[in-house]
Amino acid sequence: MGDATKITLPESAIPERWYNIAADMPNRPQPVLHPGTGEPIGPDDLAPLFPMELILQEVSQDAEVPVPEAVRDVYRLWRPTPLYRAHRLERELGTRSRIFYKYEGVSPAGSHKPNTAVAQAYYVKESGRARISTETGAGQWGSAVSLASKLFELECKVYMVKVSYEQKPYRRSMMETWGASVVASPSEDTQSGRAILEADPGSPGSLGIAISEAVEDAAQREDTAYSLGSVLNHVLMHQTVIGQEAIAQMEDAGAFPDLVAGCVGGGSNFAGLSFPFLREKIAGRDVDVLACEPAACPTLTRGPYAYDFGDTAQLTPLVPMHTLGHDFIPPGIHAGGLRYHGMAPLVSQLVLDGLVRAEAYGQTDVFASAVRFAQCEGIIPAPEAAHVVHGIIQAAAQADEEGRERTILFNLSGHGHFDLGAYDAYLHGKLEDFELPEEEIARALAAIEPLPKPAVA
Ligand SMILES: Cc1ncc(COP(=O)(O)O)c(C=O)c1O
Repeated sequence: MGDATKITLPESAIPERWYNIAADMPNRPQPVLHPGTGEPIGPDDLAPLFPMELILQEVSQDAEVPVPEAVRDVYRLWRPTPLYRAHRLERELGTRSRIFYKYEGVSPAGSHKPNTAVAQAYYVKESGRARISTETGAGQWGSAVSLASKLFELECKVYMVKVSYEQKPYRRSMMETWGASVVASPSEDTQSGRAILEADPGSPGSLGIAISEAVEDAAQREDTAYSLGSVLNHVLMHQTVIGQEAIAQMEDAGAFPDLVAGCVGGGSNFAGLSFPFLREKIAGRDVDVLACEPAACPTLTRGPYAYDFGDTAQLTPLVPMHTLGHDFIPPGIHAGGLRYHGMAPLVSQLVLDGLVRAEAYGQTDVFASAVRFAQCEGIIPAPEAAHVVHGIIQAAAQADEEGRERTILFNLSGHGHFDLGAYDAYLHGKLEDFELPEEEIARALAAIEPLPKPAVA
């Protein structure tokens, strides 16, 4: 293949199995706990919310889980996604390193999110339920679930974080085109939403609040399953089609990365690309794995590893993870999908074990890098993905300073066509950086003080 710009695979190369890193990790995450008893939760505790097949995937210790043929058939609409060699970015940077990116923005919804939305909708349908409830931050996840629900003939209700609902009306139109019903969260439709609105009528919402609403919705209706777009083990596993394809494509390019990077909100696109490479790292291969997050919501770089609720209203089990506290409300940065107080337990454990490292960046630097990327590679990154673009530009510059040639691979998790308001703000000097004071982190973390502590923290 030599110096190809776009490295593609045939439909027959869509992976037949998902990779489950839990089978190979040196230390498995601590168990998820029931908040009432403090005991590890079992499959029956999750049954009101999720189809049993997904619950079994959540606790599975098998290294590989078959992808159902009906799911692979939907994947054919956009998979395998292309791998690009960023020749033009390399020239613009004047770097000695080689830069590759896997582009997930070619899915109908514009990001990696349909990789798991389609799988989840399939299992919900198989379980006999007729409806899905979910939350969405930036609108990417809500779009993915709306599409997947339509393809499997399910009803779909989306609680969309209010600040994004107002910033991105066309994401809502997209979800409605695929037949979903969408409300701004906090909403009047649930007890949790009403309680937040009573305390703070002007609440901008957060992913933590929207999750509370969607969980409450599903818990109260037998015909409804709750669907989460990140954080959970099975969600991260569904995304591993990304990294498996990337390994084959890098082989075609005659290369293997020494740096693999992704942005992290709840951890799913990062996991999707990096877990198949971490499989090799755990087996002894030398790969640097970097998670890129916003300085305004620095879960991995400033949050402790602790037990915490996944949502604001404390409806979820206690999850062992890096967290900023369940009532932390991140500043209204434009990367809505990275405004989450917690992190996937699998990613948290890998950071704890030194297999993954993390960095945090301010949003004006991030947008400067995203514009630079767009001006050579053409694609306008989603603001979330712009964080990893910034991360790898810095890594290439550092390698050049050290006189090293690196092979860099990153996940461009989505396009920013619905985020042009954010680009507009940046291009017209209206984008702000938020310094997160230590006192605000301390305030939010006080809320988790009484909760159980993980054994290894
Ligand atoms: C394009 C894009 N990238 C990344 C993320 C962050 O989520 P995750 O960390 O689960 O990949 C989102 C979330 O909405 C997103 O829309």
